[in-house]
Amino acid sequence: MLETLRSKADRTLRSAAMYAYAFNQSRAKVLTDPLYLAVAKLLLRGDIPLNPKLASAKIPANLYLSYRSQSRRLAYFIEDWDFEQAKPELLTPRQRQMMHTVALGETSGAAVSDGFLRAFRTSPELAAFFGTWFTEELNHFLGYHAYLEKMGQRWPAERGLQVAATEFLPYAEDPLEVAACNMYQELLGFLVYRQFGSQVRDPFLAKMLAQFAKDELRHYKFYQQVVARQIQRDPSFRAVVLKVILKATSPYNQISGSARNVLDHLQMGAFYFRKPEYEYFLGQVEYLLGTPLRGFFDWYFQGVVAPCIHCGQAPYRCACESFEDAEAPAIRNPEWWKQARPLEGPPQFDLDAWTTELFKNAARPAAARGA
Ligand SMILES: [Fe+2]
Ligand SMILES: [Fe+2]
Ligand SMILES: [Zn+2]
Repeated sequence: MLETLRSKADRTLRSAAMYAYAFNQSRAKVLTDPLYLAVAKLLLRGDIPLNPKLASAKIPANLYLSYRSQSRRLAYFIEDWDFEQAKPELLTPRQRQMMHTVALGETSGAAVSDGFLRAFRTSPELAAFFGTWFTEELNHFLGYHAYLEKMGQRWPAERGLQVAATEFLPYAEDPLEVAACNMYQELLGFLVYRQFGSQVRDPFLAKMLAQFAKDELRHYKFYQQVVARQIQRDPSFRAVVLKVILKATSPYNQISGSARNVLDHLQMGAFYFRKPEYEYFLGQVEYLLGTPLRGFFDWYFQGVVAPCIHCGQAPYRCACESFEDAEAPAIRNPEWWKQARPLEGPPQFDLDAWTTELFKNAARPAAARGA
């Protein structure tokens, strides 16, 4: 009896937390942020020593300089890839749906950026990184939309514009807190793209996702070092970092159009957050906070998505090499990407023109692209 009551209370708390998640970056955050911070402080109570690796890390005062030279070595242009090789017919219904979810995240660049740059403007390191980062993210935006075109599911012109027109409420004013938010979303981008890429049967898309995952990992590592350096200076900054993680901070909360869409995207992403991703995540938490908080996160990730149909485990505990279902995902609003409000007057964000024009400027001659 007590057990049933407890699990009922647990479920209620969990679904309240999921809905709080959908609103935690709206104006309601004046109310919710202190709560998240209080929970973070509670979880970090006592004298948790700094992670020894973090404490002894020699982190340069300017991380941008080495990032820049790395970035220039690895630079590529997605239009040089041969999209004729794409085989979207090999995707499952879920994977086709997932393409829209990942494309949405990468369509938010322009909307989220003014908040980032505003917070970073007095930090030469972060402001310069912003410029390089933005260019790198454009490959993801263009690549995903070019692939949707191949899928025959190009977004209506107004859809992209609607995302861009979002009055995005900045994550925070403090540049270091914004850096922590970006760190978190780059980490999730890396983990989800990597696992999604290892599930898809289209070798072209698998390669593109692996490339994008690598880019997100590099972005993650940059921000992680910025955050680690701040923790070395001020160990209490760990509570802010944990707050950002508890909020599952990402652009989706503000660009998805409605709370039900936010939750749909959360569940689409969480499907690809399996045991390897979970363990990697805990390793990062341990590095940053000095404790993985495994017991807490075991609870936190429960019940977000249905168990794996192959092993019966919650996805974050599932170690199946291949875990896809053949079904379309059970989400509330699968056609969200077709739903665009008509926006007044030009300019329209015509993704069709973008994707067709783009390939005309590819560095490879047209013959080599099979044209
Ligand atoms: Fe990206
Ligand atoms: Fe990124
Ligand atoms: Zn499984």
